[in-house]
Amino acid sequence: MSNTTEDIFKNVIAHAKEYGFVFPSSEIYDGLSAVYDYGQNGSELKNNLKTYWWKAMVQMNDNIVGIDSAIFMHPTIWKASGHVDGFSDPMIDNKDSKKRYRADQLLEDRIASLDEEGKTSEAEELQLEMDNALKAENLPRLRELIIEQNIKCPVSGTANWTDVRQFNLMFSTQVGAIADESDTIYLRPETAQGIFVNYLNVQKSGRMKIPFGIAQIGKAFRNEVIARQFIIRMREFEQMEMQFFVRPGTQREWFDKWKETRLKWHLALGTAPEKYRYHEHTKLAHYADAAYDIEFNFPFGFKEVEGIHSRTDFDLSQHEKFSRKKMQYFDPEVDPETGKPYGNYVPYVIETSIGLDRMFLLTLINAYEEEDLSTEERQDSRTVLRLHPCLAPVKAAIFPLTKKDGLPEKAREIMDSLKLDFNLQYEEKDAIGKRYRRQDAIGTPFCITVDHQTLEDNTVTIRHRDTMAQERVPADQLDKIIGDLVSWKNVL
Ligand code: GAP
Repeated sequence: MSNTTEDIFKNVIAHAKEYGFVFPSSEIYDGLSAVYDYGQNGSELKNNLKTYWWKAMVQMNDNIVGIDSAIFMHPTIWKASGHVDGFSDPMIDNKDSKKRYRADQLLEDRIASLDEEGKTSEAEELQLEMDNALKAENLPRLRELIIEQNIKCPVSGTANWTDVRQFNLMFSTQVGAIADESDTIYLRPETAQGIFVNYLNVQKSGRMKIPFGIAQIGKAFRNEVIARQFIIRMREFEQMEMQFFVRPGTQREWFDKWKETRLKWHLALGTAPEKYRYHEHTKLAHYADAAYDIEFNFPFGFKEVEGIHSRTDFDLSQHEKFSRKKMQYFDPEVDPETGKPYGNYVPYVIETSIGLDRMFLLTLINAYEEEDLSTEERQDSRTVLRLHPCLAPVKAAIFPLTKKDGLPEKAREIMDSLKLDFNLQYEEKDAIGKRYRRQDAIGTPFCITVDHQTLEDNTVTIRHRDTMAQERVPADQLDKIIGDLVSWKNVL
């Protein structure tokens, strides 16, 4: 049994590997830092999270449509968006260990330890100083704070620091055969720009009227210098983003609406509300006029899972300037104040941007439980993933009680009747108890056992993951029983 939250986090990572959720990438070559692969159960869970998001954003809103834009984009896009010049982290190197750190993270760790020591006012003062330095892009001041706080490199143990420098996070590569400057393109660091540059295509081809949204799920790449906390900070990760185009002047109202709507989406999965909180940005990104994070209380503290940003008309105006193509929308609706149509304008944008991998980790941590099942007679325990049934990678496992007497054939027949609608697993090896434990460990909500009585009356036992209760039900009702529990109607 795990005692500390640190133990639990370590156990979740080990569990994720042992049960086919997440593997370190290129493991047989000793891995590749900050890159991970999703295994057979992980990719099912990830797909279910994508489906939950897509249904909530696209299917349930008739003014939101989804697209799938390319990862490679014209390099000027990243000039226009500000990423070439501004998408960087303040880095500092330790001269003795030659290790590189994010200056703001060194200070944030210091703030966290001051907090833990109960030195709240010192922590607050440092936070303010750091925020001001970041806002003013005052890199020498960040270095001064690190020195004043006597922050040492965890590897060399010295405070022999270089200056703080900005380090761009975009990966670049070359297109075509000749490696020439002009052929440099970038792996997208966010999916949002693929939406912005297609905004008119979608608006015109879909005859969309403001307010409307464009959603997208896809990979993004960032050359994170500090790889941390498993799949929290990766170099290749996935985002689920939605840009909502609104009339200028209405952005605050839509920002508040989306902030609330997105938290509700998280809570609908049954997560305890106290595990979430909002965090207002003090240092706004170059494109935003308001920003909140939705944070989750991970075993290592509250961390951002999703950002809600009011991006003004920055991106569309920039693309208008750099591409010299009009990004305007004609709004025929009449302004009650002037009595005239609102006419042409560049829309303002509210963005919701959630990291799929962080959502995945949150879901796994939240579901993971080491349950003590000991009685007076004997010690017992199980590890169970209490995943919402809609998200469970396998919806039901089918077990023949034994490997003979026609039970496997009957179990296969039941499985064949259900497998088009549900992801199922067939297992005949080991005692039933062991099979239950294996399914608990991957969060399967139902285990269905086919026994000799099934051959007589076509009934099966169905065992529920959370209560471990068993009941006898007609096999021809399984479709409805499973369907009702795993229906998206339960969360949407
Ligand atoms: N388009 C806005 C945007 O990209 P962001 O706050 O940089 O905003 C949005 O990223 C979300 O993407 C974050 O809330 C986080 O969940 C996820 N994310 C960002 N960087 C990540 C990384 N290196 N690894 C995993 N997820 C990341």
